Amino acid sequence: MIPALLKWIGNKQRFAELIVSYMPTEFNNYYEPFLGSGAVMAELLYSDENKMYPHFSHAYGSDVLPFLIGIFDIVKNEPAVLIDYYKSEIEQYMQDRNAKYFEIRDRFNENHNALDFCLLSRTCYSGIIRFRKSDGYMSTPIGPHKPISPDTFMKRVNLWHQLLEKASFATMDFEKAMSQATAGDVIYCDPPYTHSQRIIYGAQNFKIEQLWDTIRDCKQRGVKIMLSLNGTRESRKKNISVEIPDDLFKRKIIIDCGTSMIDRLQNTGKIMTNENVDDLLMLTW
Ligand SMILES: C[S@@+](CC[C@H](N)C(=O)[O-])C[C@H]1O[C@@H](n2cnc3c(N)ncnc32)[C@H](O)[C@@H]1O
Repeated sequence: MIPALLKWIGNKQRFAELIVSYMPTEFNNYYEPFLGSGAVMAELLYSDENKMYPHFSHAYGSDVLPFLIGIFDIVKNEPAVLIDYYKSEIEQYMQDRNAKYFEIRDRFNENHNALDFCLLSRTCYSGIIRFRKSDGYMSTPIGPHKPISPDTFMKRVNLWHQLLEKASFATMDFEKAMSQATAGDVIYCDPPYTHSQRIIYGAQNFKIEQLWDTIRDCKQRGVKIMLSLNGTRESRKKNISVEIPDDLFKRKIIIDCGTSMIDRLQNTGKIMTNENVDDLLMLTW
């Protein structure tokens, strides 16, 4: 498992190896249009670096959040900038956590810079990146945890820097990103969770119907698509997934995710039973 660069709710770190194992053994380029913390791409690049399957040419990661893509660009091109920034800011944070958190959050909300966004993901409550609907203000409160040390962070940035050698990044909507894939490419989609993630990640405008159409177009061009979807919960009784069109996918893999993180947060203080969640991994081939 590749250590996470960002603390990001709903990340696929725990399942990344499994997801990569379902990719074809050889393909041209890899596209990940809902990049988030990049857990799946990192795992794929790690297997590539270690001469394991799959073999592919280049990885293209994209997301609608420019300051998130900015972090990947910095890790790829000037890792020392991020390492130094984290060190000096986190050292101050440890002196007066609340004051420093609000300083970072205010600064980020003023200029949307990638360096502060990275700090927020490491220090905010449970990695829940939440934007206020009315004005887009990043409003997540401070987390109670101790952020990883500058030394640990430096090791992670250096590892990711190495992994990102054959990857490039761009800020764009999934439709545009997916339109760039051609025959022989693979796309992995992990869209915002349809049942509970509307308030986070700035995903308010996401429409799953648009994704079905885009997947259909890509499939017709000879692109292979993998899609993660939230599936069932409450002892697998209640289906919280969306209606999946019949014509798009050939295989459905059920991934046991354990208790849902969002449920755990929303039910703080309550006793929870049977709140198991399964994710679906859908393949078009
Ligand atoms: C469930 S998260 C992806 C998590 C990722 N697999 C990981 O391991 O961290 C969904 C991502 O989709 C992005 N997103 C939401 N709407 C989008 C859109 N219309 N186009 C592209 N990305 C979008 C969000 O910013 C968020 O980073």
